[in-house]
Amino acid sequence: MKTVTPAPTPSRTEIGRLYRTRLSKGRATLGELLGGELETESQGAWVTTATDRRLLNCSGYGVLLMGARHPTVVRHVAEQLHRNPVATRVLLEPQAALAADALVARAPAGLERVHFACSGAEAVETAIKIARTLGKDRLIAARGGYHGKTMGALSLTGKALFQEPFRPLLPGTAHVPYGDAEALEQELVAASGRACVVIEPVQGEAGVILPPPGYLRQVQELCRSHDALFVLDEIQTGMGRLGAWWGADQEGLTPDLLLAGKGLGGGVMPVSAVVATPKAFAAFDKDPYLHTSTFSGMPLAMAAVRGALAAMAEEDLVTRARILGTELLDALRRIATRHFGDLVREVRGRGLILGIEFAEPGPAGDLLVELIQQGVVANHSLNSHLVLRLTPPAILSTSDVRFLLTAFDRACRAQAARYVPTLEGGAAHAQR
Ligand SMILES: Cc1ncc(COP(=O)(O)O)c(C=O)c1O
Repeated sequence: MKTVTPAPTPSRTEIGRLYRTRLSKGRATLGELLGGELETESQGAWVTTATDRRLLNCSGYGVLLMGARHPTVVRHVAEQLHRNPVATRVLLEPQAALAADALVARAPAGLERVHFACSGAEAVETAIKIARTLGKDRLIAARGGYHGKTMGALSLTGKALFQEPFRPLLPGTAHVPYGDAEALEQELVAASGRACVVIEPVQGEAGVILPPPGYLRQVQELCRSHDALFVLDEIQTGMGRLGAWWGADQEGLTPDLLLAGKGLGGGVMPVSAVVATPKAFAAFDKDPYLHTSTFSGMPLAMAAVRGALAAMAEEDLVTRARILGTELLDALRRIATRHFGDLVREVRGRGLILGIEFAEPGPAGDLLVELIQQGVVANHSLNSHLVLRLTPPAILSTSDVRFLLTAFDRACRAQAARYVPTLEGGAAHAQR
């Protein structure tokens, strides 16, 4: 097979112009604000820019638990690419069956049927449609929760800013405070047996919100006693991110539907899944054309799922995520509070989803920009501008961890000088 030499990347200015004229002016401006770097390569925990800067990748909104281009995932995908990347969708195809079986083997007990899709939002849409087949047309989600931006998923995503321009959304949708079992019970009573509850084990985009102890078990019990469909959205938290295969495992939950995405494709392919009990899946089981999409279960994505599940198990990335998460959480907390004092409201996390919440808007965004200067890419939180979020991969080496903490320390010092003059001796807070 011929190898193709990649064409040189056009200049930053040219790519900026193309973003502005062909993609989105807003996205171009945001890119500039964040330093204007072009990413051109990635390997493991690192991403390389067009100017050959190497940045430690703690971003990707939770996709890259096993880092970029994990060799096991790449091997599976490359083999499939040269064999049969896209299926006829007429014949049966082995990769989809094997990927579904491998996923079920890792899923909580009782979840035995799989529907594959491409994006997280599509998995959420699928869950909403499964709920409809069961007569559950009342949707209940949590405030601040994030479930994607297609029309159905957006109806559940608890942020007015994203919803307002697109109203009317799905009717019969209610939002309750996350962590408030009583409020949920009230909605369940009102829905009288027609509810579908969609909830995250840890709210990611809301800014790494951990539920109160026992809350998710209460949600499950309430769903059972009010005959509601219980959907656990693990698109961000699943596949080891929390230091367990699923948040469901940590809480001892057995949802009717579990949603996976992001890390499911091993950081190489876009793929999501709904893993369902046979009872919940009955309508889809019977009619294979009831809910379809062209690229659902495409062999290339299925190979990525198999590679991702294999790599997770072979390298015990779940345990690594748990141990690394504890180490990083302590260190980040110490550094952030040392520099920002009371301006840090809380540093929290579980496994490798870590959030630094500030008491006022400003520092989270400024720290994100500063971190890029210092060599680390982090995430902002789509549903909270107070929280800087880090989603590092579980494959960080000791020297990667050292690099991350040194960069975080430097970035905090630089920004705290603007925000906390008494601690850092910088410009007056009032001048901002
Ligand atoms: C919990 C959760 N559900 C659903 C989604 C939507 O996934 P996607 O952006 O792939 O549509 C996300 C994305 O951040 C998410 O965090």
